[in-house]
Amino acid sequence: MIKKKPSLNLAYALQTVQDNRNLYAAWAKDYESEFADQMDYVLPQKVAEIFVQIGGIGPVLDVGAGTGLAGQALLKLGIKSIDALDLSSAMLEVASNKKIYKNLFTADITQPIKTVNYTYQGIISSGTFTHGHVGPSAIENLLSIAQGGAYFALSVNKDHWLKKGFATQFKELNDKIDRLLLHEVLIYGDHSKVDHRNDLAIVVTFQKV
Ligand SMILES: C[S@@+](CC[C@H](N)C(=O)[O-])C[C@H]1O[C@@H](n2cnc3c(N)ncnc32)[C@H](O)[C@@H]1O
Repeated sequence: MIKKKPSLNLAYALQTVQDNRNLYAAWAKDYESEFADQMDYVLPQKVAEIFVQIGGIGPVLDVGAGTGLAGQALLKLGIKSIDALDLSSAMLEVASNKKIYKNLFTADITQPIKTVNYTYQGIISSGTFTHGHVGPSAIENLLSIAQGGAYFALSVNKDHWLKKGFATQFKELNDKIDRLLLHEVLIYGDHSKVDHRNDLAIVVTFQKV
């Protein structure tokens, strides 16, 4: 069980899927007030904007949706049909109360996804491909629940991208995806704490062939 107060540093140091479940069960209620607001966490907004800029349309699945920040941003940009998937039922409970998502699914994307009985025209993800969380092999699992031509916008922490070999994974997926683009963005805004102010993510966009 998680004994220390949840924090970004603790989240980055997680090692297993069960560690993730435990941390987010403990963090769900305070995640927005103690992390997103204090850190000026702008990544969900940026992922949503990039998804719309590349022509993304619904129905969309927000993967690692957490408390629903990316879904909220997407809804404000005019995308109406959005579902959520997350490992943590505690995070999804907070998201569910916002009434943004039509359907909410609990699933581990590092494994074949069996609990989702729909396919999507769009898949977004903010903050889930990062240290201590999810590596590149999960992308193939996401392709299995996407329709042909589906638009993807997935954020990947830049250091995690380099350490875990995301570029190699995308090369291997070459015949399954099209229009691959990398957009480098800051994860936190001007009001963030100094030690993370320059943290970068790559928002990788592509279409399923
Ligand atoms: C940093 S939070 C991001 C939440 C939200 N997208 C945001 O940007 O605020 C990471 C989320 O990924 C989820 N997660 C971690 N490992 C996962 C896995 N293997 N499968 C699905 N979701 C996972 C966590 O439960 C958590 O809600």
